[in-house]
Amino acid sequence: DKGEYRHFMLKEIHEQPRVIKATMEGRVTESRVLEQALGTEAGELLQDIRHVQIIACGTSYHAGMVARYWIEDLAGVPCSVEVASEFRYRKHVIQKDTLFLCISQSGETADTLAALRQAKQAGFRAALAICNVPGSSLVRESDLVIMTQAGPEIGVASTKAFTTQLTALLIFTLALARTNGLSKNREAEIVKALHLVPGQVNDILALDADIAEMSRRFMDKHHALFLGRGSQFPVALEGALKLKEISYIHAEAYPAGELKHGPLALVDSDMPVITVAPNNSMAEKLKSNLEEVRARGGELFVFADRAANVNPEHNTHVLQLPEVHEITAPIVYTVPLQLLSYHVAVLKGTDVDQPRNLAKSVTVE
Ligand code: F6R
Repeated sequence: DKGEYRHFMLKEIHEQPRVIKATMEGRVTESRVLEQALGTEAGELLQDIRHVQIIACGTSYHAGMVARYWIEDLAGVPCSVEVASEFRYRKHVIQKDTLFLCISQSGETADTLAALRQAKQAGFRAALAICNVPGSSLVRESDLVIMTQAGPEIGVASTKAFTTQLTALLIFTLALARTNGLSKNREAEIVKALHLVPGQVNDILALDADIAEMSRRFMDKHHALFLGRGSQFPVALEGALKLKEISYIHAEAYPAGELKHGPLALVDSDMPVITVAPNNSMAEKLKSNLEEVRARGGELFVFADRAANVNPEHNTHVLQLPEVHEITAPIVYTVPLQLLSYHVAVLKGTDVDQPRNLAKSVTVE
């Protein structure tokens, strides 16, 4: 039931504050991750883990890409991420004590399950699943499971599943990081930041009218470029995926530092450039990338932390977002991009909840 909402996608976007909170429940206190957050067997296992191999498809793959930044930054454990359809068809070197981590909303994605079944034969230390559907094949076949608490996701374009995957992945990262020397203070700082996320997402939902206004500028566009740096690069990828899935506008995402290495050639007044710019250590570098775009007449849409001081100028639309912690920023910054795609699709009159050619659960390869 869509309730008061026009589409399931919009309803699911608005559910995010609640379901992010639900995914934290029973797993974190005010300032730390609970020992039992990943189940009782996990504690000992995590101490042995020297490497993490993440496998997923689509939006879930983007969640895995964010997690790689977290796992290497906070836990200091090497992490590889690969789409399941690639991983399953190539030879790979398995390092000792590698945790195999599958991320899937449905738990029924054919390629992800095939990769897991291979991995179980291949000598990984253990298989952990992050999944939204209890009783799914992925949940049944994994050694350890962290359930996201997104509830049923009906819209084909994944929204709340992604932000709850990120929430679960950050909790997992903190549990792993603790056995690898993360200080109590740093853990407390990040857990406290995580508790602020539902409220920050609400603040962004309150900007809906501004984002809807912005979306009008995309009506006559055929292409769009998304830029992000660091852990916001996967957020840019996810923003581009949402836009292409539901509005059928061709969209690509690049790490902002790659602009000069090719995509800058595409930038002209017909190419909107969307950037996520929280106030992190990369903000200054990102601002100089924006200058490069502006100098070529590109129209810029910047979602930026107030403190990043990105000023609206000619051809630059800035939406100022609440201040967020650098670690939790990817969760929060995903939401305005979801809303942007949603409004563009509504204006274009596409079938938002059932985009052409796509299925909710990809059970064949
Ligand atoms: C995008 C989308 C897909 C899925 C992908 C994996 O909005 O929904 O890209 O993320 O098909 O599905 P799961 O997570 O069920 O394995």
